Amino acid sequence: MADEQGSINIFGDLHPYNKLFDVITKLPEKGMAEEEVLREITYMSQEENKKWQGGQCSGTMYHGGMEHYAFLNKVFSLYSFVNLLQRDLCPSGTKFESEVLAMVGKMLHGEEVGKVNPADQEAGAITSGGSESIYNAMFVYREWGRAVKGIEAPEVVAPMTIHPAHVKAAHYLGMKVVRVPVNSDFEADVEAMRARITPNTVALLSSAGTYPHGVVDPVSKLSDLALEYKLGLHVDGCLGGFVLPWIEKLGYPVPVFDFRLPGVTSISCDTHKYGYSLKGTSTINFRSKDLRRYMFFAQEDWPGGLYTAPTVQGSRSAGLSAAMWAAMVTMGEAGYLQAARAIMETSEKIRAGIAGIPELRIMGKSTFLVSITSDVVNPYFVNDYIYSKGWRMNGCQDPLGFHFCITLPQTMPGIAESFVRDLADGVTFAKDPPYDTPKTGYLYGFGGSTEGREMLRQGMKGYVEAWYEYE
Ligand SMILES: Cc1ncc(COP(=O)(O)O)c(C=O)c1O
Repeated sequence: MADEQGSINIFGDLHPYNKLFDVITKLPEKGMAEEEVLREITYMSQEENKKWQGGQCSGTMYHGGMEHYAFLNKVFSLYSFVNLLQRDLCPSGTKFESEVLAMVGKMLHGEEVGKVNPADQEAGAITSGGSESIYNAMFVYREWGRAVKGIEAPEVVAPMTIHPAHVKAAHYLGMKVVRVPVNSDFEADVEAMRARITPNTVALLSSAGTYPHGVVDPVSKLSDLALEYKLGLHVDGCLGGFVLPWIEKLGYPVPVFDFRLPGVTSISCDTHKYGYSLKGTSTINFRSKDLRRYMFFAQEDWPGGLYTAPTVQGSRSAGLSAAMWAAMVTMGEAGYLQAARAIMETSEKIRAGIAGIPELRIMGKSTFLVSITSDVVNPYFVNDYIYSKGWRMNGCQDPLGFHFCITLPQTMPGIAESFVRDLADGVTFAKDPPYDTPKTGYLYGFGGSTEGREMLRQGMKGYVEAWYEYE
């Protein structure tokens, strides 16, 4: 945030507690008292909870109920110290994970795969989050492409809106992501993607829904395309995978994106988002056990013994899996449906409100997420205004805008109405802003140019550097 002179202090913003508590840069000679540690941590946690508990924060806090979190934390505490790789010590972990995968498989209509090919059986694994689920899927396509098609320089074709986790995975795995502009509804342009398929293509990528706009790509058409070219098709359901099935069940129009489509070969789906579990779990589900097997690692000649692991992680806490299972079985279908209903009712109120503000435009046909731009005012001036009123949106670019990912904290009475009111006032503010350049959002003035992008990258790297500095 800018100080009185207007300069930005990234370091100060990242380290607000430097002024309040000792800055610890080496192990304390004598251990701190537990009460003191708890006092500091409780203070920080309570301060930070204030930022979202009022319901003004987009996404990130998917459930928000402190009683729900207390219950999950209780479950977590029973297993937090248990390592899931030591399976004999925790058969309960095996129960939790296999049952979660069975429940997620049903939610994604995994039973349909056997109807297309009786040899196939939908199968998944638990990971640490969306990025790891996506990494594992990308790895599977690389290995499958090499084994089945002899592809040594693997490429995937993706809509421009695909989450950076795919690009990051490709970066680690030596793969190429061919990113294709989306159509005017911000959905994958299937024919444009077809045109970018080469003999090195191993898979197509898609989202349900996309992070920037919350739309579901035309997965049905991509499924046909994948079958035609004998390619893999990954559906990134990290964000929408746990809420769209319930929105569909409530009767809202949701394009089919799951294993009901014969060309869909994998789906990532985050239990730690709309699954309402603790942070640190996700699922990756494949169309067949054969595909999943490419992901597994096994080494038989290590002096430490025969080592095998299903995913990138080694040791991992059984507590997270226990909490994930507990979240799902306590929510049940009724709980997920009720949550989806509340989210959609809030979303509809916000949409109706925006329809009454002619300067604003909602991008794409979305459901649980509302992505806003304007052809009349700079959306970042609107964002400046609503930010000053306590709202925390997620910035988007190409075109400039911001999105509001509706989660349970927003379903509290009055939140949708006050958001719409502030948005309307924000438009008034943006029509005649008292300064030239918006303060929030995307680095303004360089958008779209290579210099701007490079500056953003450098700035972002400096931001990460500051995480690890202590003065
Ligand atoms: C559509 C989508 N895919 C992937 C991810 C990555 O998930 P994670 O942050 O859990 O690694 C996100 C996160 O917001 C997302 O929205």
